[in-house]
Amino acid sequence: MQSVKTVQDVRSQSKEWKKQGLSVGLVPTMGYLHAGHASLIRRARAENDRVVVSIFCNPMQFGPAEDLASYPRDLAHDSALCQELGADLIFHPEPSAMYDAAFCSFVDMNILPATLCGKSRPVHFRGVCTVVAKLLNIVQPDNAYFGQKDAQQLAIIRRMVADLNIDVTIHGCPIVREHDGLAMSSRNTYLSGEERQAALVLSQAVQLGQALFAQGETRAANLLEPMRKHIESQPLARIDYLQAVDGLTMQPISSVCAPALVAMAVYIGKTRLLDNFIIE
Ligand code: PAJ
Repeated sequence: MQSVKTVQDVRSQSKEWKKQGLSVGLVPTMGYLHAGHASLIRRARAENDRVVVSIFCNPMQFGPAEDLASYPRDLAHDSALCQELGADLIFHPEPSAMYDAAFCSFVDMNILPATLCGKSRPVHFRGVCTVVAKLLNIVQPDNAYFGQKDAQQLAIIRRMVADLNIDVTIHGCPIVREHDGLAMSSRNTYLSGEERQAALVLSQAVQLGQALFAQGETRAANLLEPMRKHIESQPLARIDYLQAVDGLTMQPISSVCAPALVAMAVYIGKTRLLDNFIIE
């Protein structure tokens, strides 16, 4: 497995593979890899001749009051995991290699980032779109893999790729959970023991919503209200949002039918966690 830090190195290797007729899969990450990331890398490994994992904690997608400085990092562990999973190349640039001093171009989007996470994180998706567009331009993969845990991010990237005619197939991968249901996240490491237990309200609320939908409930309010009550029964939890939206436009819906997304962001103490379920 190669490990490279410059745009030039990853680009020339990827071009060489393409010249040999090999397919390339890209898994973009911010590092501190866990089983959720591993599921994306495994999928990429199964579906491509060569697999590139990018590890870049992208400053542009963090707001000024957010956790960029404290975001967990462990490149040695990440490298070992990528190697074990059969990745061919890790791309881990320094911020200065991605954004030079004169950098001033951005990928911006209307409508989709106006709801859910975009509401409380106003600069977030501009940073995500810009860095993902750059990574797709640098690696020029045939396939790129994203998790449904960040369902709005996945919808936004699909839209961006369609709007900007980027020549790549985007694949969405299911949420990987801890044994007790908590969706895996690099940010779970911030939780104290008590908070870790309290965080179960998110996946419990997801199960509740899924069960109500399975019983035939399609009115968004009737799905969301019991979920809200369950989350609010946990004193350490504070809801940022809990909403049912159209699965493509991310706009609120009152009647839930496919494609739809029921998504939440909930603070457990100071840690903001996501969970959701999709109706396909
Ligand atoms: P990061 O949070 O490191 O996540 C990288 C990828 O792993 C994302 O596509 C995310 O949805 C996926 N992922 C995280 N937890 C998961 C889980 N429990 N199950 C399945 N997939 C999971 O998302 C980002 O980084 C960044 O915004 C990025 C796209 C790399 C752009 O900087």
